[in-house]
Amino acid sequence: MLKNDQLDQWDRENFFHPSTHLAQHARGESPNRVIQTASGVFIEDRDGNELLDAFAGLYCVNVGYGRQEIAEAIGEQAKELAYYHSYVGHGTEASITLSKMILDRAPKNMSKVYFGLGGSDANETNVKLIWYYNNILGRPEKKKIISRWRGYHGSGLVTGSLTGLELFHKKFDLPVEQVIHTEAPYYYRREDLDQSEEQFVAHCAAELEALIEREGADTIAAFIGEPALGTGGIVPPPAGYWEAIQAVLKKHDILLVADEVVTGFGRLGSMFGSDHYGIEADIITIAKGLTSAYAPLSGSIVSNKVWKVLEQGTDDNGPIGHGWTYSAHPIGAAAGIANLKLIDELNLVQNAGETGAYLNAAMAEALSSHAHVGDVRGEGMLCAVEFVKDKNRRTFFDAADKIGPLISAKLLEQDKVIARAMPQGDILGFAPPFCLSRAEADQVVAATARAVQTVLG
Ligand SMILES: Cc1ncc(COP(=O)(O)O)c(C=O)c1O
Repeated sequence: MLKNDQLDQWDRENFFHPSTHLAQHARGESPNRVIQTASGVFIEDRDGNELLDAFAGLYCVNVGYGRQEIAEAIGEQAKELAYYHSYVGHGTEASITLSKMILDRAPKNMSKVYFGLGGSDANETNVKLIWYYNNILGRPEKKKIISRWRGYHGSGLVTGSLTGLELFHKKFDLPVEQVIHTEAPYYYRREDLDQSEEQFVAHCAAELEALIEREGADTIAAFIGEPALGTGGIVPPPAGYWEAIQAVLKKHDILLVADEVVTGFGRLGSMFGSDHYGIEADIITIAKGLTSAYAPLSGSIVSNKVWKVLEQGTDDNGPIGHGWTYSAHPIGAAAGIANLKLIDELNLVQNAGETGAYLNAAMAEALSSHAHVGDVRGEGMLCAVEFVKDKNRRTFFDAADKIGPLISAKLLEQDKVIARAMPQGDILGFAPPFCLSRAEADQVVAATARAVQTVLG
């Protein structure tokens, strides 16, 4: 492709980038990397630099880059039927087939899938369905949603509120009043350092129960959580956490939304995080791994229990007043079908579990003993390294020191490996494509150890 030398200028003059320091970028003070092509776990920028993408884009390119099967499925669908809507009972072969494939893989209590475009809009759908559900059941007061600090559920109005990260609230007048937050299941950052993991789990459940009692169970509609915390720090839950939380929710008749945008379709080494941790959700959010990001598509998988009430709602009130123009877009659906087939054919869920365990063990081996590494943790193809100022006293660096971003920048500069400096705390996150090989995992670990040494000694 011809190189357009004006691209940098056009970018800074015209392009409003998400999650970016807008002023610095417009002034040309922050890097502008234009990605041109990609294959497997590698992406290549327009200057010809080949980078090992150990975060799979935004933990979404699960099958790896450059899969011709998916590209061809998209192309064929576009030629045959690029679009038709799914309102008033319409569908396409692709959207109907994909809904069947999803339900075949989902936990057995699930009934139907509503399609959206991204994780944020899927969670917006979920909140609307939950409010509708309680209105149909004649409990109009039961509307609040409990989320966790450090949870990530998107950046819309309600979903940005559900997200428990300060950056997503500050100056946006969020969270909205219907959303409240409870303790994150983040054992390493527990307030009481003397607590055992078991005691910490009991503490999380007690905090949840106290919040419900303060607010009144008759005002709480649902609890939303990622099976393993993602953007808030990549934190697998302590043992017994989900069991303890679900017991509290059941007792107070509170619905559970498992946000599986990151964990759905294999990232933990199980098809769903719900299977992995014994979560019995009422609604499951899916996105990213559904198409491995080859096309935008998300879904809200609704359980039998919720579905029955939704049906009753339309018998009482007429067609459901919810839908997007692009719900179940055939091109996204075609990408989803090809992607799920590829995951099966290449045994990628198993590989995510096995190579992920290898990556996590190698990372722990290489870095755990470093004086400024407080925690190395992960599950499946998720891994995180958390940096601390003083390991014994577990004190953290000042956010202004930007230790996490500095290490991730060094990793890229020295060894051309992409890991993500997570937005809150000095945490380096890894979430590679499931096709990562052991040799590539070794490369990621060696490069990380070198970057840590360069920055922290
Ligand atoms: C768990 C979770 N839920 C929801 C979202 C939002 O998805 P999207 O960015 O597609 O709107 C994300 C995005 O990272 C996520 O990690």
